[in-house]
Amino acid sequence: MKAPKIQMELKENIFARELFGEDFKWGVSTAAYQIEGGHDLHGKGPSVWDVFTAKSGTILNGHHGNTACDFYNTYLEDIAMMKELGIPNFRFSLSWPRIIPNGTGEVNQSGIEFYNKVIDACLANDIEPWVTVYHWDLPHELELRGGWADRDIISWFKEYVAVCAKAFGDRVKYWMVLNEPMVFTGAGYFMGVHAPGKKGLTNFLPAAHHAVLAMAEGGRVLRQLIPTAEIGTTFSCSYIEPYTTSRKDVVAARRADALMNRLFIEPILGLGYPEEDLPVVKKLKKYYQPGDTELMQFDFDFIGIQNYTREIVKHSIFVPYLNAVLVKAGNRRVPTTAMGWEVYPPAIYHMLKKYSDYAGMPKIYITENGAAFPDVAADGKVNDTERVHYLRSYLRQVLKAKSEGVNVQGYFVWTLLDNFEWAEGYHPRFGLVHVDFDTQRRIIKSSGYWYKAFLNG
Ligand code: NOJ
Repeated sequence: MKAPKIQMELKENIFARELFGEDFKWGVSTAAYQIEGGHDLHGKGPSVWDVFTAKSGTILNGHHGNTACDFYNTYLEDIAMMKELGIPNFRFSLSWPRIIPNGTGEVNQSGIEFYNKVIDACLANDIEPWVTVYHWDLPHELELRGGWADRDIISWFKEYVAVCAKAFGDRVKYWMVLNEPMVFTGAGYFMGVHAPGKKGLTNFLPAAHHAVLAMAEGGRVLRQLIPTAEIGTTFSCSYIEPYTTSRKDVVAARRADALMNRLFIEPILGLGYPEEDLPVVKKLKKYYQPGDTELMQFDFDFIGIQNYTREIVKHSIFVPYLNAVLVKAGNRRVPTTAMGWEVYPPAIYHMLKKYSDYAGMPKIYITENGAAFPDVAADGKVNDTERVHYLRSYLRQVLKAKSEGVNVQGYFVWTLLDNFEWAEGYHPRFGLVHVDFDTQRRIIKSSGYWYKAFLNG
């Protein structure tokens, strides 16, 4: 089944994997809403994404995650496929409204059972489960009560984390509290392009502050209930460079960097918010309560960083507070993915260096990296050489950072299966495995076979 070109490269790949060291963790990442489907089965409550996708005009082509990859029903086959590919670590998220349908109060035993089965199937196949507690599918009931913009979210979240820890902590060692808080607060509470579709600073600022507090508090709940767990959280990041060397562009790039790459990690590390480079976050003080500065900190065992691209930033008077705008990759004559993101492998190297420079930074896992390309399935094959090239090039940069002393100890491809890509629907295909969304048939792409060869020699 291996394409000849890939076969030729195998030797080098085997060599490369060994260079990362024996303990380096290799895996794939997924998220509940993007793959599970089963949106109203067996007691699951609606999430903000169920409600948001049902509104017209929110998602490209009116797509939604009601069925997605049907992982709710196909998890056994999909886990068996991971086993066949020799993937040793599987990152997936728990759906809060599947476990606690109203967000707080009664627990849905069928939801707990589903994740018990997923976890047990992983373990039976020698696959280590890595659990993200929250990957954006907030229970709709909680959104009706204010969602992330309401301070009560912190206690609702702690209750949920405790339920998860008690149910799965005997078998799950690796935990991630939040996935990309910048994205779910920025896109969901500032720009309104993700669920719940809220806009403006008065929604974003409290949501961001509460996400920081919930992240640290969630970490503490996990540590108390599962003392042996490795506890992390994950951050999106993009390497940022100014459009020109003019002072205005340089300062604009610094502001964008503070917003996109620093806003959530720095308070966790005890550095507070990056007020100096991003003055608008001074307004966050309005939402502070006594003791928050200490509560915002938590000593995570690891930080997951998720990088795909670089952004070029220039000064703009049209964007309030930020006074900065991204220069689209499409206008820069650079190679791009189906998301319109620049393919720029050194980005991941720079981000690893940047984060590892923080004093007190724990070990780092790359919890997501990957690319969407316009794959074509023909004769039961998908020859996605662009993706193989992308993954290999980014991995080389990870290795470069590691060889320069960065404490990076793992790498997870986004993603196992083509799936629901949020506002973009099913159009961008990120998977190592192709999914026909009409039949749910899976085809392992060339990149899947490449990863298998890379991992297993
Ligand atoms: C970030 C998110 O965690 C994931 O849900 C998304 O699909 C990928 N990156 C690609 O955009």
